[in-house]
Amino acid sequence: MRDSSTKLDFDKLIIRQGTGSRKWDDIGSVFGSKEVLPLWIADMDFASPEAVTAKVIERAQHPLYAYNARQDSFNQAIVDWVKRQHDWDIEKEWIVQAPGVVPAIILSILALSEPGDGVIIQPPVYPPFFASIKDNNRAIVENPLVAKDGYYEIDFEDLEQKLANPKNKLLLLCNPHNPVGRVWTRDELTKVYNLCQKYKVDVLSDEIHSDLVYGGHKHTVFASLGTPVCKQSVTFMAASKTFNIAGLNTSYMIIPCSRRRGLIEAEVNRLHLRRNNLFGVLATEAAYQEGEAWLKALLVYLENNADILVQFVKTKLPNVKVVKPEGTFLAWLDFRAYFDNTEALDAFLINKAKVGLNSGKSFGRQGEGFARINFATQQAVLVGALTRIEKALMK
Ligand SMILES: Cc1ncc(COP(=O)(O)O)c(C=O)c1O
Repeated sequence: MRDSSTKLDFDKLIIRQGTGSRKWDDIGSVFGSKEVLPLWIADMDFASPEAVTAKVIERAQHPLYAYNARQDSFNQAIVDWVKRQHDWDIEKEWIVQAPGVVPAIILSILALSEPGDGVIIQPPVYPPFFASIKDNNRAIVENPLVAKDGYYEIDFEDLEQKLANPKNKLLLLCNPHNPVGRVWTRDELTKVYNLCQKYKVDVLSDEIHSDLVYGGHKHTVFASLGTPVCKQSVTFMAASKTFNIAGLNTSYMIIPCSRRRGLIEAEVNRLHLRRNNLFGVLATEAAYQEGEAWLKALLVYLENNADILVQFVKTKLPNVKVVKPEGTFLAWLDFRAYFDNTEALDAFLINKAKVGLNSGKSFGRQGEGFARINFATQQAVLVGALTRIEKALMK
């Protein structure tokens, strides 16, 4: 193993400006200000594991970057990873490639529903969920989460009502949930599973954050709940968030049902997406085969950042509310004690505090007065950003 956790230094500042980074180089166009400290889009300010970098460099030295294939070893690395991380037994033929989780969700929506059908989501939720449904002529059906003291739960009564409507064909689950940071428990997911079986609604389970789960919480793969698996499901995964390789456009779907898999593969073929990012395939394989020690160390660092964030908010921003996330490197800040509308909050964060966070309203109307912060950065940067907010609130 190349990445011994003792050698890792997540505190080391890595300059990302000038690398074509969406997070750092696009702040002018995104926030209208070049002065904000960016803690928005969900990538990390850390170097990927050395094993990943080494693999990419080694391959880059071969001077030909032509069409490539996903080798059997790629699928094997996924099978082994899913077993080790999530104790889920899958078969290689269930794996279908995709250039990203969002495109894969769209392919699945196109394959498993008809125009006009309803797709249920649980806002506040990852913004592209809304667009993936609406832009493909399906109806957005909201089953809003309910918050008790900032801790979000599923409204099962409302969910059952939505599932019972025969027009609603799919539930798009965010597991773990972005932005509220819930790692849905086995009990919660079993309830969802039973309801979806009852009303014959397929579940699209976005599990891109499944490896990023903190102490005491355990990720449950939704599809693993069935006997032997839930065939009414598609699971979306990638090494992109876990190992910071989102720029390599590589993800995969796990589809146990051969009929559904056939339908989705037909969409993949129709759009000529049966192609791979050469480096993404190799990086994913290397990460899954050699990145476990790195991930373990990363989770310690991230959880410490989550603790620092929560403690800072509690002691220095007492009217802002936050609940420590159970998973993901994102936290959901409630500024409603200060701002009753998002425009005022966004203007404050950008122009006064000079921090670039994700506007709560992009996560649905339930996000009014909230902002999402990405804490996958060096502790000094995180504390610097929080201090900017503290000082701006005091003005
Ligand atoms: C829940 C969720 N799904 C999907 C994505 C993006 O996936 P991709 O870049 O592979 O399309 C993100 C990125 O933040 C996410 O949070």
